[in-house]
Amino acid sequence: MVKICCIGAGYVGGPTMAVIALKCPSIEVAVVDISKPRIAAWNSDQLPIYEPGLDAVVKECRGRNLFFSTDVEKHVFEADIVFVSVNTPTKTQGLGAGKAADLTYWESAARMIADVSKSDKIVVEKSTVPVKTAEAIEKILTHNSKGIKFQILSNPEFLAEGTAIEDLFKPDRVLIGGRETPEGQKALQTLKEVYAHWVPEERILTTNLWSAELSKLAANAFLAQRISSVNAMSALCEATGANIQQVSFAVGTDTRIGPKFLNASVGFGGSCFQKDILNLVYICECNGLPEVAEYWKQVIKINDYQKSRFVNRVVSSMFNTVSSKKVAILGFAFKKDTGDTRETPAIDVCKGLLGDKANLSIYDPQVTEDQIQRDLSMNKFDWDHPIHLQPTSPSTVKKVSVVWDAYEATKDAHGICILTEWDEFKTLDYQRIYENMQKPAFVFDGRNIVDADKLRDIGFIVYSIGKPLDAWLKDMPAVVA
Ligand code: NAI
Repeated sequence: MVKICCIGAGYVGGPTMAVIALKCPSIEVAVVDISKPRIAAWNSDQLPIYEPGLDAVVKECRGRNLFFSTDVEKHVFEADIVFVSVNTPTKTQGLGAGKAADLTYWESAARMIADVSKSDKIVVEKSTVPVKTAEAIEKILTHNSKGIKFQILSNPEFLAEGTAIEDLFKPDRVLIGGRETPEGQKALQTLKEVYAHWVPEERILTTNLWSAELSKLAANAFLAQRISSVNAMSALCEATGANIQQVSFAVGTDTRIGPKFLNASVGFGGSCFQKDILNLVYICECNGLPEVAEYWKQVIKINDYQKSRFVNRVVSSMFNTVSSKKVAILGFAFKKDTGDTRETPAIDVCKGLLGDKANLSIYDPQVTEDQIQRDLSMNKFDWDHPIHLQPTSPSTVKKVSVVWDAYEATKDAHGICILTEWDEFKTLDYQRIYENMQKPAFVFDGRNIVDADKLRDIGFIVYSIGKPLDAWLKDMPAVVA
């Protein structure tokens, strides 16, 4: 029986391995992690991450050919194929701080693999890593190998949170990169056979190692660029009276462009886009390509601009100050159908409003108070490190309350900011909300999900990203200082 071990039981390792176990009953899959609470949760009825369809897959395979364990060394020792799916945060200190990928977790996993292995293994990069990481990993493994042979493959993951199981069942493509040597090609074939249990052959793409590594960074950069492009247009729409939804639709009907990923919003978030672009920028700079680096940097700059533009709109509309005013925040996760808050635009918007001394009342159906407080007191990039390494400064969060109901959050508020597109925000009783708010009552829709005309009829002053502005807002242009 082929044995697979995956190091890292996170958003990628957990769902990916669960689906491999489901589709390949003849393969034994062990998912290991140094985090005891995470593994305990994977072995319980309350899985550590929320993904539609994940519970059913785990229930079917767990204990059959899918195992979650903290005994990292034992499972690596026994495995034929070792996936590494540990976190690869942005460096916070030293050379390349704020841009380069921090490969500490990866390197320690590689050293451990070399230490405990007594038989030849295929080591698969599942984490998103800088181009040429495989070369570094290869060196660590071969210099510590005691005669054991390791083959490195790059097999980046393209799943999206919120639709992970669907994406894994029917991937647009599976990408595997390997060395162009006979041994490299043999390893590549072995991994291909695993995916071939359920993925059609023509969707399994094989490349050299560096193309596979770079394709993942490139794909995320292209996706983020699309969002920044539409967000840049949204600013121009507001200035000219055009409507971003009409513009997006018109643009997206061109088959060369396509309709997906063209929604204007308060900005992109999630653990990957910003980190991967920063990483790409750093690689460009290191390779003497400053013009290319500048080009991609702009995608992040527009994303930051969009968030501060939003904060500016809120503050300038509300008589140029939100000091001591209650502002309701509806939605904190970086998108709907996930509880993930990594790099969520809500963090920057809330910090911006707190900077102007607002009192925030936050409601999100999937995010806990503890998580929100931690996010708002954390420094940039600290979130991707273990909790004990994350500093806290409770003073900033005194002006924040987290409630479990949208009506409670909006009671006596001066304004509402909608920051996540949860379906339930579309159907709230806005008449009731209006009656319980201070007047004039404002709604700032950062996701374009409410019916602005209906809300205006009720009496709200409404700001919808990229849509023609209310007369009230027109006189107060949101110019970012
Ligand atoms: P995560 O933070 O949820 O999971 C990583 C896990 O690795 C953590 O549970 C951590 O305890 C564990 N870990 C770290 N060092 C370890 C070690 N030496 N031994 C054992 N376990 C160790 O991260 P996530 O979101 O699963 O991402 C993993 C990688 O996949 C990252 O490189 C990310 O960029 C990439 N990726 C993430 C996607 C996403 O949607 N979250 C999508 C595609 C790729």
